[in-house]
Amino acid sequence: MTKRCFIIGHPVGHSRSPLIHGHWLAEHGLAGSYERVEVPPAEVPGFIARLRTGEFAGGNVTVPNKETVLPLLDKVSRTARMMGAANTLWMEDGRLHGDNTDAYGFLAHLDACVPGWAGRSGTALILGAGGAARAVIHGLTERGVRRILLVNRSPERALELAAAFPKAVEARRWQDIAVLVGESDLIVNTTSLGMHGQPPLEIDLSGLRSGTIVDDIVYVPLETPLLAEARRRGGIQVDGLGMLLHQAVPGFERWFGVRPQVTAALRAKLEADIPAV
Ligand code: ATR
Repeated sequence: MTKRCFIIGHPVGHSRSPLIHGHWLAEHGLAGSYERVEVPPAEVPGFIARLRTGEFAGGNVTVPNKETVLPLLDKVSRTARMMGAANTLWMEDGRLHGDNTDAYGFLAHLDACVPGWAGRSGTALILGAGGAARAVIHGLTERGVRRILLVNRSPERALELAAAFPKAVEARRWQDIAVLVGESDLIVNTTSLGMHGQPPLEIDLSGLRSGTIVDDIVYVPLETPLLAEARRRGGIQVDGLGMLLHQAVPGFERWFGVRPQVTAALRAKLEADIPAV
């Protein structure tokens, strides 16, 4: 039987996940499909009911439905519960399961780019306090990063997210970023700033220490102005595309029973789809 998988979102047309899963299906010679399905939040319960009929083996959930699906699932992983959001769904023994693989994707790409990064990341600085920041902080705390400084445009969201990780995370002020940069071994941008079509991320990196890891989860453009500036100052760049690729691995394995690899060929395919801006 040909297995069908999906990505639901609103809008969903921009998603590059079909490119990733299509590549792996072809690579492994599997008869399956991975389809974009436009599902506005109000239609999520109806779509979940369709899943229970066995129409799909599973799929991904993207903005704005990651939180909406959570109360509709039968079994939610510990990570998805902590995130308050699921991005990967699958049917197992007649029950609908949900997990969140964003933290896994973030960590797997960081591991691939900078082996041993956790041992040298005593202090991390996170920009932004949305869902992506929550996933990144979850990942960093799992790997034992002891001190995480969190800054956000809206300070109340930084305080709220910091309160969810009281041992490791301290909320700091956005206007103090220039000083915090100099204290940090790892800096992660989780905001949309610097993305093509969004305002620039204007922060002062003059205090960046050589060898500091700078990770931008934005991947359009592939080398964001933040990453370019970090490179000029001797920082180690980690781009956002790898997180997208790696977060897809656990889902594909669940649905098709094969653990796929993030290869140079896959990366090249995605890079070719990203506009040079
Ligand atoms: P996601 O789930 O992808 O993290 P989100 O929850 O919408 O998305 O969070 C977006 C992040 O980008 C937030 O930290 C947001 O800051 P606010 O909490 O103050 O909204 C940040 N962000 C978006 N646009 C911004 C801007 N123009 N300046 C500063 N931060 C911005």
